[in-house]
Amino acid sequence: MSDKRDNALREQILKLKKERNAVILSHNYQRGEVQDTADFVGDSLELSQKAAKTDAEVIVFCGVHFMAETAAILNPGKTVLLPDAGAGCPMANMITAEQLRQQKQKMPKATVVTYINSSAAVKAESDYCCTSANGVKIVGSIDNPEIIFVPDQYLGDFIAKRTGKTLTLWPGYCPTHMRILPEDIIKRKQEHPKAKVVVHPECRPDVIALADEALSTSGMIRYAARPDVQELVVGTEVEILHRLNKENPGKQFYAASKKAICPNMKKITLDKIAESLETMAPAITVPEEIRLRAKAAVDRMLAGV
Ligand code: 13P
Ligand code: SF4
Repeated sequence: MSDKRDNALREQILKLKKERNAVILSHNYQRGEVQDTADFVGDSLELSQKAAKTDAEVIVFCGVHFMAETAAILNPGKTVLLPDAGAGCPMANMITAEQLRQQKQKMPKATVVTYINSSAAVKAESDYCCTSANGVKIVGSIDNPEIIFVPDQYLGDFIAKRTGKTLTLWPGYCPTHMRILPEDIIKRKQEHPKAKVVVHPECRPDVIALADEALSTSGMIRYAARPDVQELVVGTEVEILHRLNKENPGKQFYAASKKAICPNMKKITLDKIAESLETMAPAITVPEEIRLRAKAAVDRMLAGV
């Protein structure tokens, strides 16, 4: 897309945003031009915190479905727009509410901790929600030897190792982070021997074992800003490099694997943002009975961080 067209669209979005009293929230994996048009760019935790506090009447969520749904859970009176209704998260679709109910029947005394990458119906069956930024803290605070963690087996394994707790894991995973392999990290380290390595906890355990730190996306942004970090290998979705480069001129960032692209995150474009503000669609809603139960799990997370 040309800069001229981008600028025209950005102006149109700005105008519509004012008319609608809207705020635009963007995840760190969104296209560069979408990040640059947003009011706030962040990780899942920061975005849900922003969504919980906003005074705007309309939230345009540039991310994937579960993120917009979380904003809708927290804001019953507001309109939450997801500019492409087909922007889903395959990991979130790897467990249904019925499957979680069956697992709970097998372990009736267990506490259920659910990664925010899940549907509202699954959150409604859960005691706590968590993100990659606070999973260790949330699980660490639970005084129950039986904990079910869904749906990401790799984040769950990471949290189990960090807390020393035994978690019953669900076999979900992120197809994008699965593309980052141990040999990619080894190769990048050989190419850039002075670089530090950060990876997302959705990565495979053998990838996490090779990194200096496993962090949420905004955790990586903060790590990159440290004065002792000049070169960084980044094991997560490649678009995070847009923000890393923008905020850290002079530092060098290398994608662990250029194959780590989340096609769903790329579905949101400036055209679709403008169109959704124009038509006020697609709007994401959650049935009230599910919303209230899901909100309890999300509120427990927000209160604990
Ligand atoms: P963060 O919460 O770290 O931004 O991660 C969200 C996500 O979907 C990772 O794949
Ligand atoms: Fe889902 Fe993975 Fe995309 Fe994150 S990167 S939204 S977990 S598919």
